[in-house]
Formats: sequence, C-alpha cells, structure tokens
Amino acid sequence: MTWILEIYRSAMAKKAVMAVTGVVLFGFVLGHMVGNLKVFLGPVESDIYKIDLYAEGLRTFGAPFLGHGEFLWITRFGLLAAVGLHILSAWQLTVLNNKARPTSYRKQTSQASTYASRTMRYGGVIILLFVIYHLLHLTTGHVHTDFEHGKVYRNLVIAFQNPLVAAFYMLAVTSLGFHLYHGLWSFFQSLGLSGPRLDVFRRQFAAVFAVIVTAGFLSVPVAILTGLVN
Ligand code: HEM
Repeated sequence: MTWILEIYRSAMAKKAVMAVTGVVLFGFVLGHMVGNLKVFLGPVESDIYKIDLYAEGLRTFGAPFLGHGEFLWITRFGLLAAVGLHILSAWQLTVLNNKARPTSYRKQTSQASTYASRTMRYGGVIILLFVIYHLLHLTTGHVHTDFEHGKVYRNLVIAFQNPLVAAFYMLAVTSLGFHLYHGLWSFFQSLGLSGPRLDVFRRQFAAVFAVIVTAGFLSVPVAILTGLVN
C-alpha cells in the first residue's frame, strides 16, 4: 500500500495529472473556438442563426439515448473535474518545488523558468476568473445587459458591441494563448521530448497551436466591434 502512497506523492504523478487534464482542457478550448466560428456562418432564416442551432445541437446530442441537455451536463462535470485536478496538481507541484529548493539556491534559479512559471500561475488565475464571469455572462446571462436563452448570436453581438466587454474578452483569450503556449511546451517536456533539436520543434509547435486558438477566439469580438458581424 505504501507504494501507492509514494506514487501519489511523487512529482511525476502530479505532472502526469497536469498533462492529462491539460490535454482534456486543451481539447475543449480548441473545440469551443471552432464552434464559435459558426458566428460567421450567419442566419438560417430571419431570426435563427447557424450558431444558435449549433448550441441547441449540443443540448440534443446523444438523443434518443440521452435526454435533453444530458450530454452537456456530462461534459460540464468532466470539465469541472479536469479544472479541479489541474489546479490541485499545479498547487501541489509548486509546494513540492518550494520544499525541494534550498533558500541559498534561490538566486540561481533560471530567470526564464521562473518567468514562465509565474506567467502560468497568474495566467491560470486570470483564466479562472474570466471563466466564472463568462459563464454568468453568456451561459446564464446574469451579467449580460439583454440576454435571451438560446439566442447565442444575438447575445454575442449585443455583448461585444460594448468595447469594454470586448476588450476584457480579448485580454483573457490572449492570456489563455500564453498559458497554452507554456502548457504545450512543458507537456512535451513531461513526455521526455526535449533536447536541442526537439526544443526548436516543440517551441514552434506550441506557438502555432497557441496562435491558432487565440486568433480564432479573438476573431469573434473583433468582427463584432468592427461591424463585420452585426
Ligand atoms: C471570445 C471568446 C469566447 C466567446 C465568444 C465564447 C462564447 C461562448 C458562448 C456564446 C457560450 C454559451 C454557449 C451556449 O449557451 O450554448 C459559451 C460557453 C462557455 N464557454 Fe466560452 N467563449 C469564449 C471564450 C472561452 C474561453 C477562453 C473559455 C475557457 C477557457 C470558455 C469556456 C466556456 C465554457 C466552460 C462555457 C459553458 C458551456 C456550458 O456549460 O454550457 N469560453 N462561450
């Protein structure tokens, strides 16, 4: 039994949990970004938009085996568990790192790695706060000025016509971009894929993915602010 406890306490196990939950969350973020692009597909008929049908499709997905909204709830519980474990293992790894590093070595820590881990921590907090606001804004409508359930296109256009709201979203998705970049980079490191040549490859791979996701998310508030989507 003690070996199970040892594995649980090891940094490797915590890194594995970070990596697996990170991949799950990355998959969600990528899928969500692609789904949001449906805002550019316009209306199906006078007051119904492709993105509204897509959102309804997420609620009827799995029928007749699943009831209305059940697929969405299963996904929500899965995501919540992934977010919880991701934060928990990040916190545990920080505690382990601080314990392992004697104070006298503190000044010798690489500037680049402390910068990256600080960015990850602050970025993670910004993303968490953003997601809480975002759920109250575009899912429940509590902090939206004129919210209508099921009218995703309309809710988005009204929301992002306010430059302050659009700017906040842009800031949040940009910090998500940095988080994804560092996250993907260290994911490959955890898999043991590092070395002079591999480092160049994983840096480029992480940058390309982070830029694609960030640009995709940014395109929606930018298109609405500039009147391209209205
Ligand atoms: C400009 C960027 C974004 C836009 C325009 C956007 C848009 C939306 C919309 C319209 C919904 C409601 C969908 C529905 O009712 O079916 C939603 C839900 C959601 N979004 Fe975003 N989103 C953005 C960025 C993000 C980011 C960066 C994250 C996570 C890091 C995120 C996480 C979520 C979550 C967890 C939900 C709730 C899904 C649910 O439980 O129904 N979103 N988003």
